Amino acid sequence: MTESQTDQLPAQQVEAASKAFEQEFERFACFTDASRDLAGLDLDQAIAAERALAELRTRHLGKKSELAAVKKLIGRVAPADRASFGQLVQATEAALVKAIEEAEETLRQYIETERTARESIDVTLPGRRPRHGHRHPITLLRERIEDIFVALGYVIEDGREIETDFYNFTALNIPENHPARGELDTFYTTDGFALRSQTSTVQIHAMQRRGVPIRMIAPGRVFRRDTPDPTHNPMFYQVEGLCVDRGISMAHLKGTVTEFLRRMFGADTVTRFRPSYFPFTEPSAEFDFSCFKCKGSGCRICKNSGWIELGGSGMVHPNVLRAVGVDPQQYSGFAFGLGIDRMCALMYELDDIRLLFENDVRFWEQFE
Ligand code: DAH
Repeated sequence: MTESQTDQLPAQQVEAASKAFEQEFERFACFTDASRDLAGLDLDQAIAAERALAELRTRHLGKKSELAAVKKLIGRVAPADRASFGQLVQATEAALVKAIEEAEETLRQYIETERTARESIDVTLPGRRPRHGHRHPITLLRERIEDIFVALGYVIEDGREIETDFYNFTALNIPENHPARGELDTFYTTDGFALRSQTSTVQIHAMQRRGVPIRMIAPGRVFRRDTPDPTHNPMFYQVEGLCVDRGISMAHLKGTVTEFLRRMFGADTVTRFRPSYFPFTEPSAEFDFSCFKCKGSGCRICKNSGWIELGGSGMVHPNVLRAVGVDPQQYSGFAFGLGIDRMCALMYELDDIRLLFENDVRFWEQFE
């Protein structure tokens, strides 16, 4: 390398380094003017620019940069030119540092302000109210029924939903060949247990556990092999009632059911008992009550009959008492059962009981 070459070359190198820097720095130049409006820039872009700027600094001022290489040449420059060359290198370096630092500072401030703005809370905004849960219409109705019977001195029994043949049929005096026992009507588990098809099963459990006298109601789910339609579901709710004591008669049954319905639908409610048949009661009766809407004059709800059919009832069959070791000579009792879903559908004028189990919050929100 000749003197003149060494002399020339480093100065050119400095200029080249500075040019290369300027080219790359161009896109950051806007940040060196702190008064500039950065309104168009979003926070993520600013953060990305900050990172790119840090890389740029390493590239142009770091140990492996062109400028660092040039610095090493200072000692090799002819002594006469060394001072001015040194100053050139320093001035160039200082210019680069200044440009980068100004841009860095603008970005840093911008990011800080933006972050604070983004994280700040507008206390005047309306809060987000947590949505309150609702009790299901069937639950509401069940609770009303329970309250009435608890006030009449009844206990509430909770049965099981999977039963043996004994509880679901045999103890209830349902004969071996009765169609209800068949798989067409009742669901069975693979090991031969029945999903209870009526809450009457709880009569047996309750009398076995509590003995007699007894007054109890048992609300709960029952299952039947029905195809869902507007008035049927394979799963629905019933309430069972049972009262056993010495000297219980049909009059007690009629009085209790009537009092329950008066408390439920108003003091002017009238009841009607029609002869019927159930294996677990003798005599048996189905009961109706005067329509709560039209009070018996006829309307859409009672299909113009003035009456609403509600459930089955009767005097507990001696065989049922015997099945739980109660002597029918000493004790007698009445029982009744009604469907809650159907009652619910009538009261809320639902034209499809499947709505009760479709889990549509908009439906539930209309209650309570
Ligand atoms: N278990 C009957 C049913 O599901 C309803 C019923 C009728 C219950 C008469 C009773 C009763 O306790 O005595 O259709």
